[in-house]
Amino acid sequence: ARKGKRRFGSAFGWSPPGADAGSFANPAYAALLERECGVLVPENELKWQALRPDAASFAFDRVDAMLDYAMRQGMAVRGHTLLWHRPKWMPAWAESHDFGSTPATEAERLLTTHIETVMRHCGPRIASWDVVNEAVDPETGGLIEIALSRAMGGAQQSIDLAFHTARAHAPAAELVYNDFMSWGAGSATHRTGVLRLLEGFRARGVPVDTLGIQSHLVTNGPDIAATVARQESDWRAFLDAVVAMGYRLIITELDVRDTGLAAPFAVRDPLVADYTRAYLDIMLGYPQLGDVLVWGMCDKYSWLDGFDPRDDGKPRRGCCYDPDFRATPMRAAIAAAFAGR
Ligand code: G3I
Repeated sequence: ARKGKRRFGSAFGWSPPGADAGSFANPAYAALLERECGVLVPENELKWQALRPDAASFAFDRVDAMLDYAMRQGMAVRGHTLLWHRPKWMPAWAESHDFGSTPATEAERLLTTHIETVMRHCGPRIASWDVVNEAVDPETGGLIEIALSRAMGGAQQSIDLAFHTARAHAPAAELVYNDFMSWGAGSATHRTGVLRLLEGFRARGVPVDTLGIQSHLVTNGPDIAATVARQESDWRAFLDAVVAMGYRLIITELDVRDTGLAAPFAVRDPLVADYTRAYLDIMLGYPQLGDVLVWGMCDKYSWLDGFDPRDDGKPRRGCCYDPDFRATPMRAAIAAAFAGR
């Protein structure tokens, strides 16, 4: 998948050499990246939380090391993310920032300075950006407010400004709105909210090229065919509406939470693979779909166990490689889906 138009890639991390982490500095992990990936994305290091110790400074050391590595390896890099539109994932200082007597002006200055500085620093080394991440409330479909957006008079202002600023500083880059609305039945409100946001972008002339579909899949039971059948038509209706507005698509954070699947691994792994294959067969059928990125190559370092441990206490198996760096059936499923196109 390295050389084709549609690339396969993964999130990766920074760690000091010798640390056991999903990082390019870990030779076992780097070997997976170098063998499989044409495009990488820093899992955390480009977020405000990592880059911005305070309102005045930027800490680019980790990002620079990651970009240097990717360039040396001839791999492309995506940028994640210029604005994660959730109070929880902005730095505490930004959420309690004193916007002074002209809050809108100060908030705009803070946001545009951030985006300009990060985009200038990375320059053409990053050609695709998750400009805004997760701004839609899955429960209501409305937009989530953060301190910056409140100071500007509402989330529409901060989100639109982020995209306009990004376009001004990287006219050739792909600008992405990235979110986790899924094909699950519980995501209908979320999907509707995302469609409304995308329609608004087009109506107001906001420069957004692509919908980033995170693709944190949840299996929800052992009968994969039935789960897929339940979800497919709503999902296609959503995708059809998105591409009808002229958006491109990319898969930005694929992994699988094998919830409701019985142990042992010999049973769980093929079900995860089947679910991944069914999902990718639908997605890869859209000519508007570009790159496919997984959210980490290896279960050993995935966020999934920490975020959502299984009820039975068994480790999650939602990546292409198991904790011992052996390929899982999911890897073969992805390769087969790519090969079929
Ligand atoms: O690096 C610090 C470390 O110095 C500190 O000691 C430790 C104590 O909490 O925290 C470390 O930072 C953690 C960071 O991951 C790196 O491990 C943060 O606390 C932790 O919140 C952070 O979690 C990340 C999460 O986003 C929030 O930024 C996950 O790794 C990352 O996989 C996850 O990724 C998100 C995407 O950005 C957006 N889509 C959903 C996806 C999964 O939640």
